[in-house]
Amino acid sequence: MFDNKEVLVTGGLGFIGSNLCIKLVELGARVTIIDNMLPRQGGNLFNIRDIADRVTVNVSDVRNQLSMNHLVKGKDYIFHLAGQVNHVDSMKNPLQDLEINCTGTLVLLEALRHHNRDAGVIFAGTRGEYGSSVKLPVDEDHPTNPKGIYAVTNLTAEKMVLVYDDVYKIRGVCLRITNTYGPRHQMAHDEYGVFNWFIRKALDDEEIPVFGDGRILRDFLYVEDLVDSMLKVAAADEAYGKVFNVGTGVPVSFFDLAEKIVAIAGTGRTKFTEFTRERKEVEPGDYYADITRIVRTTGWRPVTTLDDGIARTIDFYRKHRKEYW
Ligand SMILES: NC(=O)c1ccc[n+]([C@@H]2O[C@H](COP(=O)([O-])OP(=O)(O)OC[C@H]3O[C@@H](n4cnc5c(N)ncnc54)[C@H](O)[C@@H]3O)[C@@H](O)[C@H]2O)c1
Repeated sequence: MFDNKEVLVTGGLGFIGSNLCIKLVELGARVTIIDNMLPRQGGNLFNIRDIADRVTVNVSDVRNQLSMNHLVKGKDYIFHLAGQVNHVDSMKNPLQDLEINCTGTLVLLEALRHHNRDAGVIFAGTRGEYGSSVKLPVDEDHPTNPKGIYAVTNLTAEKMVLVYDDVYKIRGVCLRITNTYGPRHQMAHDEYGVFNWFIRKALDDEEIPVFGDGRILRDFLYVEDLVDSMLKVAAADEAYGKVFNVGTGVPVSFFDLAEKIVAIAGTGRTKFTEFTRERKEVEPGDYYADITRIVRTTGWRPVTTLDDGIARTIDFYRKHRKEYW
């Protein structure tokens, strides 16, 4: 399916993007990455070390219209993962969030409108678009009441992709992705991607700070399963023009997660901590996904158990510790 296909991955030096690029190269795709190495995010050249001689890397910004006009030409698929992902920064510096997540997406779509209407666009949005759950599990018809600017800009970018699909027939599919973990995530700070932060704390034999009573439920997805879902929606004609949840559907509390990480790592310990104000403001509460739609449309299902995913992630960071902090 992807053999000899031309693929552009925005944000391809980051966590999800690099794992996706590794898989695409394995499948024979010709991969181009655009990433601006935004400070305090996950961009890391080490992430693509094993495929560096088989991908083209363009260190540029998705907001740059001239770069994007050039980069979309001749591409079969565009996986749009470049984003401002730091939840804390999105509240401190909302205009940057707006510019990267909304203007960046619109620049990409305009490049496609003028230079390539045949590519399929796969947009990586977030389960945060729903805000606080009014029923569980959350399906795609659940109301969207984002709690933070990051989630607002993701929802807006999603709508832009759907409008270009509808009006200009630039095929787009939008994912609302749950909390994802695994190798190649930044671990320098805890402002997004708290799962990997828990792993860092355990590896350093430190206390893992669990906010409140630790009973908030989340749906944790291993990155290889997410990559597989992205490839499956890209390959399914009937997926375009639609929104899909991507998750496991299995709820796990932060406390149980921390305890599991400690047990598998054999180091670290759990400690209850008060919420910081910044955290509390954007905390939507319990979430786990109803994944019926993506399963029915593409046949995708997550296959990695939480225990396996944690063990594989710990193994990766034990080997490559110095590259991630
Ligand atoms: N990790 C998750 O749990 C999760 C969940 C839901 C949605 N997402 C979405 O998936 C996408 C990728 O997230 P990630 O976890 O891999 O984060 P990440 O920080 O590891 O990767 C994002 C990459 O985008 C790059 N980038 C940021 N702004 C850019 C710009 N203007 N131009 C070019 N590149 C830019 C960064 O340098 C970074 O390498 C994001 O859009 C995020 O909102 C992630």
